[in-house]
Amino acid sequence: MREALTNPGQGYYTRRGGVGESGDFITSPEISQVFGELIGIWYISEWMAMGKPTTFQLVELGPGRGTLTEDILRVFKQLASVLSKCDVSVHLVEVSPKLSEIQAVMLTGGKVQPSPEDEPAYMKGISKTGIPIFWYRDIQDVPPGYSFYLAHEFFDALPIHKFQRTEKGWREVLVDIDPEVPDKLRFVLSPSRTPATQNFIQPEETRDHVEVCPEAGVIVQRLASRIEKDGGAALVADYGHDGTKTDTFRGFRNHKLHDVLSAPGTADLTADVDFSYLRKMAQGKTATLGPIKQREFLKNMGIDLRLQVQSVRSCRALSVPRQYS
Ligand SMILES: C[S@@+](CC[C@H](N)C(=O)[O-])C[C@H]1O[C@@H](n2cnc3c(N)ncnc32)[C@H](O)[C@@H]1O
Repeated sequence: MREALTNPGQGYYTRRGGVGESGDFITSPEISQVFGELIGIWYISEWMAMGKPTTFQLVELGPGRGTLTEDILRVFKQLASVLSKCDVSVHLVEVSPKLSEIQAVMLTGGKVQPSPEDEPAYMKGISKTGIPIFWYRDIQDVPPGYSFYLAHEFFDALPIHKFQRTEKGWREVLVDIDPEVPDKLRFVLSPSRTPATQNFIQPEETRDHVEVCPEAGVIVQRLASRIEKDGGAALVADYGHDGTKTDTFRGFRNHKLHDVLSAPGTADLTADVDFSYLRKMAQGKTATLGPIKQREFLKNMGIDLRLQVQSVRSCRALSVPRQYS
């Protein structure tokens, strides 16, 4: 999954990018600006609730085309009088050179500079609204500081391990080359337990099929440590469940479901985020809330009222968001 999505030469995000109506799947910020506006207001209300610190970093993981950050920054500009005594900077964690170029155009009009090799950010610029923006390949490169983190449809793109319960115990689902058909991949079960089955399956597990994303766990631990040390909050929005779903791994190409093993690197691959696992990974460091349904979050944030005052021009695409199979 990691190779198919982010291999520097052939990865799906590296080459295709895929977000948007002309791509392979559409995300909420690409449908309506209201999504990002409400998230922008959520950050401002958190900032006020935390006593209006004099500086904060907005850190987005996997910003896609940059649309969500653009909408948030517009809200920050509209509420400039509220934020007037606060130094805001934007930090984008993006591995795809193609998408970072699109983000640079969206957010700065293309006015960016590559950074010297010895600097943690690989690119920097100033947003159209005058806020400094930096790009990184890894969350570890983002400087410490009071931060509001945002991960929208990011964790679902990180690689998972899959496990199947059998009569002989837990086995890992692996990818193999089909000996009957050249160039075809197939799923197989490990003949015995693997280190991953030993490490990632909980003794109390009741499901027969389980997906675990250790990389998501590591990133959440890092976010939790950073928040514990420097202050801030994180908002994670994704397709997900609370430790209840089983086989959710799927591919999308041209807005249609696509066989995950066919033509790797040409389709988006995604697996639902297990929020119970993320919560466990943050435990002891930060308070965790949720998950709640996105609908509920947006309603609590006043989407109905906002839509009433919003003209039809806000409709960015007539597609529907990514759907389950
Ligand atoms: C499904 S897109 C989400 C786009 C955006 N957040 C939106 O809602 O429109 C996933 C994003 O995560 C990025 N990405 C995937 N794996 C990554 C990784 N390991 N590190 C950083 N970014 C990654 C992709 O390049 C892309 O920008």
